[in-house]
Amino acid sequence: MLNHVVDRFIDRQRWLEPVADVLQKVVAGSYKLLGSPGRSLKTFMHGTWLGHPLHPVLTDIPIGAWTIAILFDLSYLIERSHGWVSAADVTIFVGLLGAIASAVAGYTDWSDTFDRERRVGVAHGLLNTVVILLYLVSFILRVGGGSRVLAILLAYAGYLILLTAAFLGGDLVFGIGTGVNHHAWQEVPTKFTKVLLEGRLTDGMLVKAMAGDTPVLLYKKGETVCAISETCSHAGGPLSEGELDGHIVQCPWHASRFDVCTGQVKGGPATISQVRYEVRRQNGQIEVRRSADTLQPN
Ligand code: FES
Repeated sequence: MLNHVVDRFIDRQRWLEPVADVLQKVVAGSYKLLGSPGRSLKTFMHGTWLGHPLHPVLTDIPIGAWTIAILFDLSYLIERSHGWVSAADVTIFVGLLGAIASAVAGYTDWSDTFDRERRVGVAHGLLNTVVILLYLVSFILRVGGGSRVLAILLAYAGYLILLTAAFLGGDLVFGIGTGVNHHAWQEVPTKFTKVLLEGRLTDGMLVKAMAGDTPVLLYKKGETVCAISETCSHAGGPLSEGELDGHIVQCPWHASRFDVCTGQVKGGPATISQVRYEVRRQNGQIEVRRSADTLQPN
């Protein structure tokens, strides 16, 4: 199958590793340089405010605009009418704006990946960077009075590379699971289920318990006991090993932050809130069930 051929090809490209090392340092360093606003900006670019990754939303802009531009260019080549020239120039420009925003969001998401998803991700990102450069040169030729035929050929070449890059983007999500909610398929109890002896909870400490096969994060403060999913929605990190700051837990893997009582995501890269559980005490046992108002679909 084509995806196996592509995967094997990318696995053989060892030069991607040092390139990925440098790029991840550049992306992480750029946000770090901005201090606290940089952290907020990174969370914004992940799409935490949207409850959904921002990158796939933005990718529709260049794909749509440049698809229409192909038709406008084709019409120009057939009719040689100036109307098609202006229409193509505008759509190429709109596509460029969307592609640049999409690249920033994409590289931001990718900066928190490792191993195979990092390798496929950097190939996806580099191909799309080439696409942006081709369209940029094409646009400059168009508005600068250069060869329109060359500008069109560059745009068509860019579009073909764009499709290849989109294939890798699909492989990242559907093949590797990058950006997929990591507790979407967990069995979440909808009836009260025993998870822990109450005496094993310590005030102000995070405790991992099991509801069947599903890990649950418990947190006790005074008389209140809170419970949310222990598996980080971003990439499956163990929140019970995270750092607690007030009632906010920070994931040990990529520093997403969640409210331990509501499950709400407070900082990216995660974009999806944790499952929230209702808690009750019964005969010295802590029991939980999925809260009716949790945002999770399952
Ligand atoms: S696994 Fe990535 S932030 Fe938790």
